[in-house]
Amino acid sequence: MSRHDLEGETLLLTAGPTQEALDPVRYITNRSSGKMGYALAAAAARRGARVILVSGPTHLPPPPEVELIRIRTAVEMREAVMSHLEPATIVIKSAAVADYHVKEVPQQKTKKTAARWTIDLDPTPDILAEVGRNKGSRLLVGFAAETQNLVAEGRRKLETKNCDMVVANLVSQEGTGFESDENEVVLVMRAGGNVALPRNSKSVIAEQILDHVLKLRLARHEAS
Ligand code: CTP
Repeated sequence: MSRHDLEGETLLLTAGPTQEALDPVRYITNRSSGKMGYALAAAAARRGARVILVSGPTHLPPPPEVELIRIRTAVEMREAVMSHLEPATIVIKSAAVADYHVKEVPQQKTKKTAARWTIDLDPTPDILAEVGRNKGSRLLVGFAAETQNLVAEGRRKLETKNCDMVVANLVSQEGTGFESDENEVVLVMRAGGNVALPRNSKSVIAEQILDHVLKLRLARHEAS
């Protein structure tokens, strides 16, 4: 039997990559299977929360009891997140959002020529930072996918994006992160200190992340 300790909470979650079109047949994307975000969504729903999952393209089945909103681009993800922010008490942004896109996508396929193809990319909206500026009393959890300086980068993102916790993930390691079924992360806490979660299945890591989110939520209730 699962604990119903997230009853009364509304979780807004993002997961998976975004895809940014270069022309009608090509796109750029980030490596992400969506498994960590889907595991979080499934675990939160089992624990009694209302879960709104905004997902980029993945090959995963929709988690049971979750409101799934499918999007493709960072701009679409931003719209879906901002329009569902109001009821959310907890926001967890595990998506691997593409940082750059082509603003005006050509309507016709770019034909191959012998010449080099140079593409101008503009930054996408930083959704987590925008939620951070408008978070009110919500708890905000970001992710940081790093290849080095895991904790320092996690803390920098926590501060610049106004998060309460950042789940920092070393993605250069074999067997964890990206397409893997396992993960190993460090939770960087706003109140100071870090919590290392040793290698485990993504579903166990999801439960542990939610345990820490719940602790922050209870501490906030007690303080208010
Ligand atoms: N994120 C977002 N919108 C973006 C880019 C990132 O909401 N346009 C969120 C991700 O969902 C994640 C967090 O920001 O929760 C950190 O993402 P990451 O790609 O690790 O960091 P960046 O801010 O893109 O920084 P850098 O590329 O310098 O590592």
